[in-house]
Amino acid sequence: MPIPTIEWVDGRIHLIDQTLLPNEFKQIYCDDVESVWEAIKSLRVRGAPAIGIAGALGAVLGIWKSTELKKVTDYLATSRPTAVNLFWALTRIEQTGVLLDEAQNIIEEDRARCRAIGQHGLNLLRNGDTILTHCNAGGLATSDYGTALAVMFSAHESGKNISVYADETRPLLQGARLTAWELMQAGIDVTLICDNMAAQVMKEGKIQCAIVGADRIAANGDTANKIGTYNVAILAKVHDIPFYVAAPTSTLDLSLKTGDLIPIEQRAAEEVTEGFGSRTAPEGVKVYSPAFDVTPAHLITAIITEKGIAHPPYEESLASQGD
Ligand code: MRU
Repeated sequence: MPIPTIEWVDGRIHLIDQTLLPNEFKQIYCDDVESVWEAIKSLRVRGAPAIGIAGALGAVLGIWKSTELKKVTDYLATSRPTAVNLFWALTRIEQTGVLLDEAQNIIEEDRARCRAIGQHGLNLLRNGDTILTHCNAGGLATSDYGTALAVMFSAHESGKNISVYADETRPLLQGARLTAWELMQAGIDVTLICDNMAAQVMKEGKIQCAIVGADRIAANGDTANKIGTYNVAILAKVHDIPFYVAAPTSTLDLSLKTGDLIPIEQRAAEEVTEGFGSRTAPEGVKVYSPAFDVTPAHLITAIITEKGIAHPPYEESLASQGD
């Protein structure tokens, strides 16, 4: 990132407003907890680790105007339900005496975790591979460098010649707007496809593996990620293509036995019917818009964390990786 995705500067939060990308690269400033809540809710800051960081820094702002930390963290916890990193970060903040120091620790740790994910994942890629990814699990979704994209950045930096197909990711186009932008900035060959083109691209033999991020991973390896990820996993299985999840251990929720217990965020109908200003569906049509889906563990070839590469059975391999 030319500037950090999110940072604390002189008593306020600076963050890249991701709703404006790729047309405008602009920072916004939050100096109260309400504006942080709004930034998370409206996806100005998004991606599981980045949401966690925003929550932690938001709590620092919130406590300046409140005497009750729990009230502040409970409020921030209502912004988005699926990414466990938010609740993980808020719990860390609740348990510390020095809020800002702990928030900065979370940022620094996340940087290190993303780099380590890149280093571990790099070994799964061969020279000449083409990878399919969905949504955005890059530097914009973390403190820096990303998770799924970290693997691609590391492979590229180590001299491997890789290419990427990026799903556009309906309805809010994180793949088109953010992933394509990040990969192009890094000089990685990227081709944008609509979500419904993935099967054909795989059938044509263009893809050697899929790598995606995660919002919450249950103890058995079931993984919640952006809606459409499950489709990619099914397609990968049918075409005998490895399907990898890359995520820091702060995304593990070992308290949940299976992915059926992961809360799935529902988003507003307008994001589907008039997402970017122009109406694309009849007035009054019924809309169902889950923002995430859960990929069953049996479709996941391996999970890459900062601690290494976890293979099935995930009940065992993830248990030893708990944060
Ligand atoms: O709704 P979003 O844009 O916050 O969804 C983001 C994703 O699904 C990412 O893949 C996930 O958070 C991993 S980010 C490293």
